[in-house]
Amino acid sequence: MALFKRNVQITAKIDGQPIQAPQLGMPALQWRNGYGVSSDGKDTNSQNKPTRRLTKDTKEIIIYFSRSGSTELLAAKLAKLTGADILEIVIDEPYSGNYRQTLSRANFERQTESYPELKMSVPDLSQYDRAYLGYPIWAMTLSHPMTSFLLDYGNLLNQKQIVPFMSEGGYGQGNSVQRISQILRQKGVQATVYSRPLVVDGNKVDRSDYQIERWLKSLN
Ligand SMILES: Cc1cc2nc3c(=O)[nH]c(=O)nc-3n(C[C@H](O)[C@H](O)[C@H](O)COP(=O)(O)O)c2cc1C
Repeated sequence: MALFKRNVQITAKIDGQPIQAPQLGMPALQWRNGYGVSSDGKDTNSQNKPTRRLTKDTKEIIIYFSRSGSTELLAAKLAKLTGADILEIVIDEPYSGNYRQTLSRANFERQTESYPELKMSVPDLSQYDRAYLGYPIWAMTLSHPMTSFLLDYGNLLNQKQIVPFMSEGGYGQGNSVQRISQILRQKGVQATVYSRPLVVDGNKVDRSDYQIERWLKSLN
């Protein structure tokens, strides 16, 4: 869609790779709450390898999914401030670069509860005390790759503090935090889910440093 061709150049990197986030910097009228945002059709960036920075001793990990890059930039900023490890959620069949096609696939998946297959190896998470979970809001709830991750690997989050963060179109966190708790509870996982997530508008993540820092202080 022509409206969304503009791509703000940012220098941020994650795991040494550049971040592409086409909706950054869009004025509200043009952005229309994220309606119509394209991606390069590979979830985040076709030029990059999936983000995966894992160390031996770090006690915190950021696990995220991003289709069009805003949540990825948020994850990069958090990683810089916390020094946490990072793991990107990767699915077998990426969502279309086209917004309408993504929306209709996402609606179908939600109605049929047929969430996407993951294509990633998930490491042993036992060294971590805290897991930051990052996702875009879709239909006022968790975007589906995060749902798949929790359904498949939620048991690895047992006994950890779960801290949600997200980018969204301006309508807020929806029921995403409750949904995380619900899935983990159904799996019998004992975890504390922080009830005050970081919520940033998708077109403003590049201007969110102060908000992130304040939020991190309130968390610690
Ligand atoms: C399929 C789909 C559904 C969406 N639903 C909502 C929504 O219900 N509420 C909202 O505020 N934003 C919604 N958005 C906008 C995204 O949450 C927003 O653009 C976000 O920043 C995208 O993050 P990403 O660049 O990391 O993929 C939706 C976007 C898509 C693609």
